[in-house]
Amino acid sequence: KKRLFSGIQPSGEVHIGNYLGAIKNWVGMIDRYDCIFCIVDYHAITVEYDPKEMQNRIINAAAVNIAAGLDPNKCILFVQSHVPEHTELAWILNTVTPMGHLERMTQFKDKAKQHRDNINAGLFTYPVLQAADILVYKAEAVPIGEDQVQHIELAREIARKFNSRYGEIFPDPKEILSDAPRIMGIDGKTKMSKSRDNYISLVESSESIWKKLSTAVTDENRKRRTDPGNPEICNLFTLHKHYSSIEQIERINRECRTAEIGCVECKKILYENIIKALSPIREKYEELIKDKHSIIDILHEGAKKCKNMAEITMAEVRRQMGLT
Ligand code: TYM
Repeated sequence: KKRLFSGIQPSGEVHIGNYLGAIKNWVGMIDRYDCIFCIVDYHAITVEYDPKEMQNRIINAAAVNIAAGLDPNKCILFVQSHVPEHTELAWILNTVTPMGHLERMTQFKDKAKQHRDNINAGLFTYPVLQAADILVYKAEAVPIGEDQVQHIELAREIARKFNSRYGEIFPDPKEILSDAPRIMGIDGKTKMSKSRDNYISLVESSESIWKKLSTAVTDENRKRRTDPGNPEICNLFTLHKHYSSIEQIERINRECRTAEIGCVECKKILYENIIKALSPIREKYEELIKDKHSIIDILHEGAKKCKNMAEITMAEVRRQMGLT
């Protein structure tokens, strides 16, 4: 089996953008690949956070992912900082990564704009740690959302630079996109994101989901109930495509254009379908989170396996670099 690696930051609640863009794909690939999934706490600390909250965030992220289908008997789930080889390799990879490449990263530019008072070096070298995450396990498949593609391209370049300088160690990691690589936030303006309050969490209560959907932006040209709408530019229609039945999607596509169906009714249909899809995940999550120790055990078990693999790669890397 080919090895697959992907990661998620414990920087807030896991949302349906993460799910449709990445996690759903992870679950679908779990039997075909040798899968490693990582909760990347060292990435999450590149922006300000509350240290008192971090442990819970990590455990929640693990529980949500397991509830969403990452069966720990079929894949490895672990926490990045439990395997120090990630940061060790990141340092080494820093030395083969051109500054100019990092300066071109759009996520860095966006985050630097968002966090003007804390543009730290970690934020800048973030993609190098991401490359180390993947390469330390020699993973070849990396399922991600669209916003991470540039980082995987860079990981590929870093692998090639290392190989050409020190000898072939790393395979080329390739990104794998889902059928929903970029889910927009319910504000309809930017992509759904943990750091902006424009998401629907995977374990959100029904009331809260309705509150968010009822105020969500639709086709802004449709000001009155009697105005015809255009589903193609309606953000919620995209969500219908992932949560509603073919009949419902066809009906909405037709009746929105003729103003037969109004936004409120359309939102109600979406609401019912999202609830139906999310409630098994939420129930499973609520069950799992009652026993945090079991989750911690799963994460430690995962880290042990990863550490063994990572140590082997690091020994090879050091040998090739003359660092024995
Ligand atoms: P993170 O935590 O921001 O997101 C986790 C995954 O969810 C995807 N995603 C989305 N997909 C579609 N629409 C959206 N609105 C949306 N928002 C997020 C992301 O693309 C991602 O796949 N740097 C990474 C974590 C990481 C990683 C890695 C990933 C660290 N090391 C190594 C792959 C390989 C990140 O911040 O993901």
